[in-house]
Amino acid sequence: MATEPRIKITAPTIRERKGHQKIGMVTAYDTPGAIVASEAGADVILVGDSVANTVLGYDTTLAVDVGVMIHHTAAVKRAKPHSLILGDLPWMSYHLSPEDALLNASRLVREGGAEAVKLEGGRERMDVVRAIVSAEIPVMGHIGLTPQSVHAMGGYKVQGRAVEDARAILTDAHALEEAGVFAVLLEGIPENLGKLITEELAVPTIGIGAGKYCDGQVLVFHDVLGLHDDSYPKFVRRYADLKSLAVEALSSYFADVQSGAFPGDEETYHMSDEVAAELLVNRHNNLSRPMNW
Ligand code: KIV
Repeated sequence: MATEPRIKITAPTIRERKGHQKIGMVTAYDTPGAIVASEAGADVILVGDSVANTVLGYDTTLAVDVGVMIHHTAAVKRAKPHSLILGDLPWMSYHLSPEDALLNASRLVREGGAEAVKLEGGRERMDVVRAIVSAEIPVMGHIGLTPQSVHAMGGYKVQGRAVEDARAILTDAHALEEAGVFAVLLEGIPENLGKLITEELAVPTIGIGAGKYCDGQVLVFHDVLGLHDDSYPKFVRRYADLKSLAVEALSSYFADVQSGAFPGDEETYHMSDEVAAELLVNRHNNLSRPMNW
């Protein structure tokens, strides 16, 4: 039975989900990952700057620039996912001026194929958000624990536990909404704060370590599938242990190479017995002649 083609999800689709249907988001950084995410039903695929940690082996997300993000966004685009493709603006790509930020956002769209962009920060980013939105590029905000601020925060720490900090994050959420974002990502904040922001904003909230009341949830591809042995944050639920499966599968392959069990007959090309026999006859004839190449 043929399956119905999925309808392409856009930023307005996500915006309209508020209060009706939860939003499921996951990161992906390459074509096969995006195919898996799309087939599994991702509403949004975030080509996150977490590619620095998950794929490229860096300790922080500060290592990647716009060129790297375009490279990975374009790979996701080639998967033609039904999901909205959200490109992450990396550190220092939106900090110099609104003009510079707009230029970098437009590169993610034009060269990478992003259909919306995400950036970190609150009130201080209002001008940047306005500039990008004015060029018809949908923007998702990202507040709370913002990994690009790792040095300023003194590590990856839950934000908004003290009342003044919580109020500041709430104010940032309102500021981003006023500037025109279509959604706000809330990372690493207490559940009550995630609930309050979700109730007060007209645009959807997407949580990662922000509790169950958010309008949607996002997890990192390599975390949700158990693709690594590093420590997992408290908010991650691992739905598979693909790292162990992959090691097991590759070990079997190498064992079969050693034993000669691979390749088998079914993994081997054949020629007819006649051709094989003729090949050997000609081979003997050829060997008796001088080689002239
Ligand atoms: O880059 C990323 O993966 C993120 C996470 C918060 C989802 O921004």
